[in-house]
Amino acid sequence: MTRRRKIYEGKAKVLFEGPEPGTLVQYFKDDATAFNNEKKGVITGKGVLNNRISEYLMLRLAEVGIPTHFVRRLNMREQLVKEVEIVPVEVVVRNIAAGSICKRFNIEEGTALPRSIVEYYYKNDELGDPLISEEHITAFGWAAPPEIDDMLSLSLRINDFLTGLFLGVGLRLIDFKLEYGRLYDENDQMRIVLADEITPDGCRLWDVETNEKMDKDRFRRDMGGVAEAYQEVARRLGITPESGQQDIKGPSTIQ
Ligand code: TMP
Ligand code: ASP
Repeated sequence: MTRRRKIYEGKAKVLFEGPEPGTLVQYFKDDATAFNNEKKGVITGKGVLNNRISEYLMLRLAEVGIPTHFVRRLNMREQLVKEVEIVPVEVVVRNIAAGSICKRFNIEEGTALPRSIVEYYYKNDELGDPLISEEHITAFGWAAPPEIDDMLSLSLRINDFLTGLFLGVGLRLIDFKLEYGRLYDENDQMRIVLADEITPDGCRLWDVETNEKMDKDRFRRDMGGVAEAYQEVARRLGITPESGQQDIKGPSTIQ
């Protein structure tokens, strides 16, 4: 079998050329990084769990009318997605103060925010993803005003939906990061769709009863039990791989 062409390798995923034009294969690695690549590690089984979790969340979001790049899961570590032009803006939605907002404004972690706050970060590893405003986005041409409007309204709808979905399984959605892409149709019409992934790598999820962290903060803060936390999120969502542990450790089918 011929080796597929690698399009892009990120910190936690690899993108390969897809089976037909306009598609890509998104491969989920077990690699984890934090603090803009300063901290590196491997969370065994993370790629398999994240592939499932992102599939599930993207499908649920599509059901409520959120356009996404997701097509279908291919195997344990891979999913087929539509090829999009990634907007170099990371959209973070925060419901409860945690992480960088606590430092920036000296807020105690766990404080409920007066309302959900949406922030934009410039997607640029060399610069460490700096916080930006709409002014920067439009002035530097990273996205046009109507695209920002779409990203903002989609992000708030996603927040509403996911907050409820996670609450239903005993998890509080503290904050999360989204990425969007431009999808061009046959007539060269463009629309903004949700891209990348939604997984515990880019969300903060706390147990409703105990406030226990069930996300990548366990890795960032050396708390241990990282894989177990991701596994528990998948279990609560009802999507634990059927054959359990064996499934997670199984060989990847990538060529
Ligand atoms: P922060 O508190 O570090 O700014 O992160 C806010 C949320 O966004 C948190 O759930 C983690 C996620 N995030 C990413 O997924 N990638 C990133 O590069 C950053 C900075 C945050
Ligand atoms: N994903 C980012 C990194 O790898 C930041 C983070 O998640 O903490 O550095």
